[in-house]
Amino acid sequence: MTQWIEGTISEIIHWTGNLFTLKIDAEVDGFTAGQFTSLALDINGERIARPYSYLSAPNQRPLEFFFYTATNGLLSNALVELNPGDSVWVKKQSTGFFVLDEIPECKNLWMLGTGTGVAPFFSILNTEEPWERFENIVLVHAVRTLADLRYQEIVRSLEQKHTDQFLFQAFISREEIPDTFNGRIPASLEDRTLEKKLGLDLQPDNSHLMLCGNPSMVKESSEALKRRGFKKHRRRTPGHITTENFW
Ligand SMILES: Cc1cc2nc3c(=O)[nH]c(=O)nc-3n(C[C@H](O)[C@H](O)[C@H](O)COP(=O)(O)OP(=O)(O)OC[C@H]3O[C@@H](n4cnc5c(N)ncnc54)[C@H](O)[C@@H]3O)c2cc1C
Ligand SMILES: NC(=O)c1ccc[n+]([C@@H]2O[C@H](COP(=O)([O-])OP(=O)(O)OC[C@H]3O[C@@H](n4cnc5c(N)ncnc54)[C@H](OP(=O)(O)O)[C@@H]3O)[C@@H](O)[C@H]2O)c1
Repeated sequence: MTQWIEGTISEIIHWTGNLFTLKIDAEVDGFTAGQFTSLALDINGERIARPYSYLSAPNQRPLEFFFYTATNGLLSNALVELNPGDSVWVKKQSTGFFVLDEIPECKNLWMLGTGTGVAPFFSILNTEEPWERFENIVLVHAVRTLADLRYQEIVRSLEQKHTDQFLFQAFISREEIPDTFNGRIPASLEDRTLEKKLGLDLQPDNSHLMLCGNPSMVKESSEALKRRGFKKHRRRTPGHITTENFW
């Protein structure tokens, strides 16, 4: 049974008109980086709950979440109105298989996310495990506009801490910004421009990819990769692609 606990908003950051961060104090159970919990508000007498991935690492407090307000979305448009000191329901137990325990051994780990779909990657990258397991780690953040490209301070600090191990690439689809890709992830996997720009070999025998966020990005990227010999990863039939759809 879902066990709801009352959390308190410690901070809300409005990055743009429809992109925001909530920091929450709540006594949740332990979780694994990459997992999600549920947040809920009582709206018109009904508890409205949705899943949200932790952006914070398991040992970080306060808990941190990164949101878009979905157009006409019921809960996200209520969460964005919260203020410090307000209450929010948090599911005590977390769940999800988008975690490193599910990723087979390989040389290079590629993390590809759209929008707020980078959240679980930051949680994972702020733990020790990926840096001990993989020779190279790539993080790709694909957004519509430069204003949507948040958490660059975490990216910069990972670049400094793991100079020879970490590569970051931004995709900004609706603006032309130097040093970023002006397009979408699946096309760059199809024509190999992403790996050429990063100078890192992307082959089934050396890489695993984690895809998160927009379900059409996940689908189209998986299709492009399958045409190149990559396979969906399952426990029983190991492969190279692990996915999490946000809607
Ligand atoms: C495992 C998991 C983790 C998630 N983690 C996050 C997270 O960290 N941050 C985050 O912002 N969202 C996350 N989501 C999405 C989140 O659960 C909600 O779906 C989202 O906030 C919209 O809820 P709503 O009540 O505002 O919209 P609703 O009233 O439920 O309806 C919105 C409509 O838009 C669609 N939709 C839902 N989400 C989006 C979206 N992001 N963009 C476009 N259309 C959408 C839905 O299919 C629906 O038709 C996650 C979803 C899953 C399954
Ligand atoms: N109310 C508003 O003004 C407003 C504004 C922005 C977002 N939103 C809401 O927030 C939601 C999430 O926003 P978001 O910016 O993260 O949305 P998103 O639509 O997932 O865009 C993030 C990135 O993913 C790309 N993308 C979209 N479809 C793709 C596909 N099939 N394959 C590969 N890449 C793809 C986008 O490229 P493209 O630019 O080429 O699509 C963009 O670069 C939106 O769907 C909407 O509900 C509302």
